[in-house]
Amino acid sequence: MKIQSICCIGAGYVGGPTMAVIAKKCPDIKVTVVDLNEARIAAWNDEDVSKIPVYEPGLSEVVAEARGRNLFFSTDVDKAIDEAEMIFISVNTPTKTYGEGKGQAADLKWIELCARQIARVAKGDKIVVEKSTLPVRTASTLKDILKHTGNGMNFQILSNPEFLAEGTAVEDLMAPDRVLIGGDQTEEGLKAIDALVNVYARWVPRERILTTNVWSSELSKLTANAFLAQRVSSINSLSELCEHTEADVNEVSRAIGTDSRIGPKFLKASVGFGGSCFQKDILNLVYISRSYGLNEVADYWEQVIIMNDYQKKRFSKKIIKNLYNTVSGKKIAFLGWAFKKDTNDTRESAAIYVADHLLNEQSNVSVYDPKVTEQQIYTDLDYLGSRTPEENKESLKVVNDPYEVCKGAHAVAVLTEWDEFKTYDWQKIYDNMLKPAHVFDGRNIMDTKALRDIGFKVHAIGTADDN
Ligand code: NAD
Ligand code: UGA
Repeated sequence: MKIQSICCIGAGYVGGPTMAVIAKKCPDIKVTVVDLNEARIAAWNDEDVSKIPVYEPGLSEVVAEARGRNLFFSTDVDKAIDEAEMIFISVNTPTKTYGEGKGQAADLKWIELCARQIARVAKGDKIVVEKSTLPVRTASTLKDILKHTGNGMNFQILSNPEFLAEGTAVEDLMAPDRVLIGGDQTEEGLKAIDALVNVYARWVPRERILTTNVWSSELSKLTANAFLAQRVSSINSLSELCEHTEADVNEVSRAIGTDSRIGPKFLKASVGFGGSCFQKDILNLVYISRSYGLNEVADYWEQVIIMNDYQKKRFSKKIIKNLYNTVSGKKIAFLGWAFKKDTNDTRESAAIYVADHLLNEQSNVSVYDPKVTEQQIYTDLDYLGSRTPEENKESLKVVNDPYEVCKGAHAVAVLTEWDEFKTYDWQKIYDNMLKPAHVFDGRNIMDTKALRDIGFKVHAIGTADDN
């Protein structure tokens, strides 16, 4: 079966880039991305392609090439569902904030709404593709809803989880390590799998397209994230031991990572992992394990989160301790707010929690990030609810110049690994700061020797503090 029209519900960090790349690589397939959020769709359609709502290197070029040719963004969800042979569900699946499973389980209300809408609208057979990250066995819920609320059409459910990382989304989509497609192992199921394999096979070598049953595919996505996050928590746990023993975590990570069985990636000690997925997916894995009565399995994975929360707290405590145990009334400048470089996404960014902790200690925080808007920074802080929005505006300032943000500060904290931070005139920054001037490098990206030569006291993750 050759697919000619695709619809994707959800125009976010996954739906937008994924569909843009499919449209680029398959000019003969009509790809329509729909969302309930009108402002988001308007931004995807902005004539000025630099204004699209997701910042990713290379993305605006891909959108500029395909948009209006075979890539469309719309709020007319019903029409797009009706026209498509294959429907990707790429909506958000955040951690539940209420009721049973609050704080751990995935909130599947948007997924269920999509299923009900597809069932209501579809007037022909469709292949429904789970692109969102979902708890294992969600496909059976989808199937149930589609069967019982539909118009008697046939639906095949595929699981095709996305492995792109933000900041490298286009690169990851163009040349993925693998594409995973799970489906029913029946004649109809295998046909549906084949239809999706044929889409990816336009640009992904066949041997990189893995096919499995639905449950393996759903579970592999959650656990791939859990394994990646576990590596970060493992190296972060060692970072504290390094600080006490004069071992250097960068050297340790290089020494460990050169063992080909371990590998060098994801061993960078940091202020803690952020992003919309690691924490949510591990919590979900913990919840699922507990719901099967597997308490030891749940405890094992929960420790990855506990370590990460500890690492964020430890970083703010390091700042407080080195500023003579008080930051009250002191200005602390943040370089970076995004959860990693090359993205404007701030979900679960460590910077939010470090700022919150320092503001609780009555510090004055000033923030500069090259891609995050002032409004987003206040939204993130207000969401925590530790202070009123007015109080947040009073004690945290957003500044759009990196030199200005550091002026008069006691300390600079590097919270995101943006490349541009390394290129600044650090002598100029030093000259305009209060003394002793400190740099707290939460990402271990700075040239610590050069900073010390200027006169800074430097505190990195996983090496002994300067006294
Ligand atoms: P997002 O919040 O950026 O985007 C989701 C979009 O879906 C929003 O714009 C929302 O308005 C829309 N939406 C929700 N319900 C809808 C409905 N019923 N009809 C139409 N639109 C609806 O989320 P995201 O970061 O793109 O993540 C989406 C999924 O992909 C999640 O399950 C996530 O775990 C998974 N994932 C994310 C990443 C990532 O890097 N962000 C990577 C791999 C997988
Ligand atoms: C992660 C996975 O890498 C993707 O494969 C997956 O598709 C995605 O989650 C998802 O499901 O959403 P992402 O969260 O976008 O991607 O970014 P990562 O590069 O994984 O970084 C996550 C966090 O870990 C960042 O805060 C990053 O700074 C931190 N990190 C990463 C470290 O602190 N040290 C490292 O060595 C690597």
